[in-house]
Amino acid sequence: MTEHEVTVGDITQLQVDAIVNAANSTLLGGGGVDGAIHRAAGPDLLAECRKLGGCPTGEARITKAYRLPARFVIHTVGPVWRGGNQGEPDLLANCYRNSLSLAIQNKLRTIAFPCISTGVYGYPADRAAEVATRTTVEYTKQHDGVSRVVFVAFGEDAAGHLKRALASARGA
Ligand code: APR
Repeated sequence: MTEHEVTVGDITQLQVDAIVNAANSTLLGGGGVDGAIHRAAGPDLLAECRKLGGCPTGEARITKAYRLPARFVIHTVGPVWRGGNQGEPDLLANCYRNSLSLAIQNKLRTIAFPCISTGVYGYPADRAAEVATRTTVEYTKQHDGVSRVVFVAFGEDAAGHLKRALASARGA
């Protein structure tokens, strides 16, 4: 049975097996949570990312976490919001599924997600929260291995969307 919870704070401070990075397809860093993770992890993270040769939207890659309290970073690339009819929901769902799959493959038990695509990439926070929680609840029902999933909101508004979405995902 996987526990799912919502927390408000800075994902770089979480002591979990893996934190998920909302990266871009180059995997060479950026602003937002990507910038915060690279700043906290130190330059060795970028050095490892350089060897990965990028990551397509919806897919995920794993690296060490270096100076972060987490053990690993799972980098995933969310879709840019283009109105909702360009496959964005499925691509966003793939980010959560592929990140969870990598965690299970690497025997990681606890994983924290930021609100992927809801910053620079413009995905409406309420819709993204629905995709994130429904996909994760479904995936962890069908696949064993992850004991705890933490959805990290960077503010109270985001936390509200996640809590409402998680409640209905649990009830589904
Ligand atoms: N901890 C947790 N959440 C954070 C943090 C943090 N330290 N910093 C930002 N966030 C939140 C934002 O508030 C937003 O809700 O992460 C969510 C994702 O926003 P972005 O980081 O802008 O990511 P995204 O919308 O997926 O855009 C990705 O932005 O930083 C660049 O290189 C990245 O090009 C890529 C793009």
